[in-house]
Amino acid sequence: MRLLFPEAAEDVDPADVYADLPVANGRPSVRLNMISSIDGATTLNGVSGGLGSAGDKRVFAALRSLADVVLVAAGTVRAEHYGPSATPVAIVTRSAHLDWQSPFFTEPKARPIVLTGEDAHPDNLVHARQVADVLIVGASGVDIPRALAELGRRGYGHVLAEGGPSLNGQLVAANALDELCLTFSPNLAAGDGKRIIEAAAFPTPYELSLRSALEEEGFLFLRYRSVATSPPSSPST
Ligand SMILES: NC(=O)c1ccc[n+]([C@@H]2O[C@H](COP(=O)([O-])OP(=O)(O)OC[C@H]3O[C@@H](n4cnc5c(N)ncnc54)[C@H](OP(=O)(O)O)[C@@H]3O)[C@@H](O)[C@H]2O)c1
Repeated sequence: MRLLFPEAAEDVDPADVYADLPVANGRPSVRLNMISSIDGATTLNGVSGGLGSAGDKRVFAALRSLADVVLVAAGTVRAEHYGPSATPVAIVTRSAHLDWQSPFFTEPKARPIVLTGEDAHPDNLVHARQVADVLIVGASGVDIPRALAELGRRGYGHVLAEGGPSLNGQLVAANALDELCLTFSPNLAAGDGKRIIEAAAFPTPYELSLRSALEEEGFLFLRYRSVATSPPSSPST
């Protein structure tokens, strides 16, 4: 993998480049990792896997290794068949209707966290509490700022969000996206795959600034910082 920006370098380790974590004031910092085709699709046949590469898997693993907790919405856990992870994973769900028999819950490397609201069905919460830490962080579904505050109280200072687009939209709407790691897959996918952010149009664009750019086999691994939430500092590798 080669570094294109902020300077040129060959054979860099993504774990070194991405070790430069975002910081945030008063809540855990939030980094989002997504992959997209050149024409903006986040899925091929309903999952992101068809867009990826060996390099993308290395970046995915490096980002997880640097995170205190992964934040992911239930739709993505279902679609992508999440398996056990060494990094704790917090799932955002209103229904609390998840596959409690899946290895993700029955063979965990780190106890999963279920973030849900007071309107989750009590029967589902009984199942959830057997295999996960359940945090009620909203009256109707999950209140995203409350969820982040609760994760922060539990000592998770750096959150890696892994989507999907509906959760991403809520993070941006809550002004709680500090860094976007975007892999551009050199493909045109067309179809009905969502864009990386699904939300009503923002009144003003959420401004980002390029932090680093890597390339391997035509894949671009771009990293952007939020101008609004990130304190200014000089780029580092
Ligand atoms: N290209 C990529 O990098 C990438 C990354 C991630 C996902 N994806 C793809 O994106 C698709 C999934 O994205 P999506 O936008 O359709 O769904 P999603 O955001 O992954 O999940 C939506 C679900 O999350 C829960 N949820 C979201 N916000 C909530 C809130 N505030 N309170 C409570 N629950 C909340 C609800 O779960 P319940 O239904 O349980 O209530 C909701 O149905 C999949 O096809 C996946 O493969 C692609």
